[in-house]
Amino acid sequence: MAITYQSPMKLNFITSNGFSNPPSLYPINTHFSFGFNLSSVSSKTQTHITIPEPEPVFTSVKSFAPATVANLGPGFDFLGCAVDGVGDFVTLRVDPNVKAGEVSISDISGAGNRLSKDPLSNCAGIAAISVMKMLNIQSVGLSISLEKGLPLGSGLGSSAASAAAAAVAVNEIFGRKLSVDDLVLAGLESETKVSGYHADNIAPSIMGGFVLIRSYDPLELIPLKFPFEKDLFFVLVNPEFEAPTKKMRAVLPSEVTMSHHIWNCSQAGALVAAILQGDSRGLGKALSSDKIVEPRRGPLIPGMEGVKKAALKAGAFGCTISGAGPTLVAVTDDEERGREIGERMVEAFMKEGNLKALAMVKKLDRVGARLVSSNS
Ligand code: HSE
Repeated sequence: MAITYQSPMKLNFITSNGFSNPPSLYPINTHFSFGFNLSSVSSKTQTHITIPEPEPVFTSVKSFAPATVANLGPGFDFLGCAVDGVGDFVTLRVDPNVKAGEVSISDISGAGNRLSKDPLSNCAGIAAISVMKMLNIQSVGLSISLEKGLPLGSGLGSSAASAAAAAVAVNEIFGRKLSVDDLVLAGLESETKVSGYHADNIAPSIMGGFVLIRSYDPLELIPLKFPFEKDLFFVLVNPEFEAPTKKMRAVLPSEVTMSHHIWNCSQAGALVAAILQGDSRGLGKALSSDKIVEPRRGPLIPGMEGVKKAALKAGAFGCTISGAGPTLVAVTDDEERGREIGERMVEAFMKEGNLKALAMVKKLDRVGARLVSSNS
């Protein structure tokens, strides 16, 4: 069945080397992306495309999406990475009890008992609906069961992990028609509603590894490969303290001085160079060096400065706020040393901020959001 899809979005076609090209064919398993500015959608940019509505290839799928560390110090809103072994799961079912073309959230377990089950207010629901719209799903209803492995408001990309897992699940159940960029855009729609207009959690949660967001409109993503043979460990220390991202964004300066601009740009450049060279020491040094965002947010996280000092004293190559906080991230190239650094940071959170905290030592997740199981 061919259906006309009326997109309110500007369409941009981006080849993997970043140049714009018209598409030779639609549907979208060519490299294709919807580029749009969420704040100013103009009717002049409406585009009509005829796409076939795909049928589900599975009756249910289960997906996983990893936690992420956004910003990495000087990379505010344009750099992030995925961490291994912790994240959210989504089980998605074709559900005849759900109205065709719609999504329902049947249950939420784990750390998400405060989350809304209204799909229009829930990260997983918003991303799932966005992917269904991109695929033009009108004949099938879906239900979502969300298993939160990540605490809310922790700075570990909790909302993005739910959105990424849902976006990937919908794409998989309909035969994987969309590109990675499309899935990131679906997740970005969700992030914009619940957290803010930033893709530095959703992009690495979907793509894995380190991702540089070169441009938002049109969306251009650059995956940065950290060499496989090099060791890199993230020490993530999460205190019992919630830091809503919207509030942590509100404290940021709207303008920066030229000297801070030069400093942060050079550190961000050094950070990217360190990632590509597999230089964990250089990565840590650059990650620790933000002079624009960390100085505004740090004082809002009780004990942050003392915890950072404790991490560096224990041998971390660098330490900063993970995303909008309150989790702090330190880096090292030795797992055992990472555990020691974590213990010192937990002690410092108690001593300096009177906060209980939990530490974990994680590797890079190089895969990103993925299908875990499926039923035909
Ligand atoms: N770049 C975003 C921020 C990430 O720091 O506000 C939020 O996790």
